[in-house]
Amino acid sequence: MKILVTGGAGFIGSAVVRLAVARGHEVVNLDALTYAANPANVAPVADSPLYRFEHADIRDRAALDRIFAEHAPDAVMHLAAESHVDRSIDGPAAFMETNVTGTFHLLEAARSYWLAKGRPDTFRFHHVSTDEVFGSLGETGLFTEETAYDPRSPYSASKAASDHLVRAWAETYGLPVVLSNCSNNYGPYHFPEKLIPVVILNALHGQPIPVYGEGRNVRDWLYVEDHADALLTVLQDGALGRSYNIGGNNERANIDLVRDLCAILDRLRPDAAPHGDLITFVADRPGHDLRYAIDASRIRDELGWQPSVTLQEGLERTVRWYLENEDWWRPLLSRDGVGTRLGVGS
Ligand SMILES: NC(=O)c1ccc[n+]([C@@H]2O[C@H](COP(=O)([O-])OP(=O)(O)OC[C@H]3O[C@@H](n4cnc5c(N)ncnc54)[C@H](O)[C@@H]3O)[C@@H](O)[C@H]2O)c1
Repeated sequence: MKILVTGGAGFIGSAVVRLAVARGHEVVNLDALTYAANPANVAPVADSPLYRFEHADIRDRAALDRIFAEHAPDAVMHLAAESHVDRSIDGPAAFMETNVTGTFHLLEAARSYWLAKGRPDTFRFHHVSTDEVFGSLGETGLFTEETAYDPRSPYSASKAASDHLVRAWAETYGLPVVLSNCSNNYGPYHFPEKLIPVVILNALHGQPIPVYGEGRNVRDWLYVEDHADALLTVLQDGALGRSYNIGGNNERANIDLVRDLCAILDRLRPDAAPHGDLITFVADRPGHDLRYAIDASRIRDELGWQPSVTLQEGLERTVRWYLENEDWWRPLLSRDGVGTRLGVGS
């Protein structure tokens, strides 16, 4: 299959690109190379004859039309997005432009390509989204595919809007779509502004490890390579028009997750004092959702997918990867905003 992956130079997109190429798919990676992108993320496949890169922006309709015509993909996996909640609080405009308007242009370009091809029902537009569209849970309960949308940050509102657009294009124009909503990802190549790499790198540098509020916010963590595998499963076997929640069954309060990471570092890279001594509670994120947790029974029961990596195993692999790949993360520390507190609100 030839897959057009948008955002393939980012964290999850690059995991999809690496896995798809490893499985023998042709991949065209369309990416605008924003601050969050890194060509090194796809270095393992860059020389493969199955891999092509297109430096383009999903808001650029002319570029999208050219890319569809030139590469004639069998499917689109749409991951390009502004993805950092804290940045969406400081500057929501980019989130509306890329996540909403960009998705609109991509849908229109895909529709016009699909119409020109004679509306093949084998074509797929896979929209990759987040569980954050469902809002915040209390102490109990899980998000299912039927949970009402209740986004509460500019980021999640923009992703919810994009999900609605994709469903509307399926209903109105018959575009063959599938959707997925996933919980928090972690793993290798994670940009160093997100929680897990921040913890690892601050601990390595002996710097304070910031934990928002009291660290009681709960997230359901999924190893990124498991997510990439789930996404290819949804693309290939998902029912038309259906959405799938993807999660790792790994709920953890932020403070416990941070302590887990510190304990792994104490073992792999011991310092004079325990790394946990660096934990520092800082002002909470405005509108910080308390708890996300996914009911992933649909993808398990209908498509036979389950995560393969436990949280403890995934965290250990991730810490080892950061210890062994300083050449990857060191240059990213000087990128705009990295290492500074974002999203405090006004
Ligand atoms: N990270 C998570 O935990 C998580 C969880 C669930 C869903 N998602 C979704 O998965 C997708 C990928 O997330 P990620 O964490 O890999 O993001 P990321 O920020 O690491 O990567 C996003 C990529 O999109 C590219 N991009 C941004 N704007 C673009 C534009 N206008 N045109 C073309 N390319 C553009 C960037 O250059 C970057 O390579 C997003 O849609 C996100 O909403 C992420």
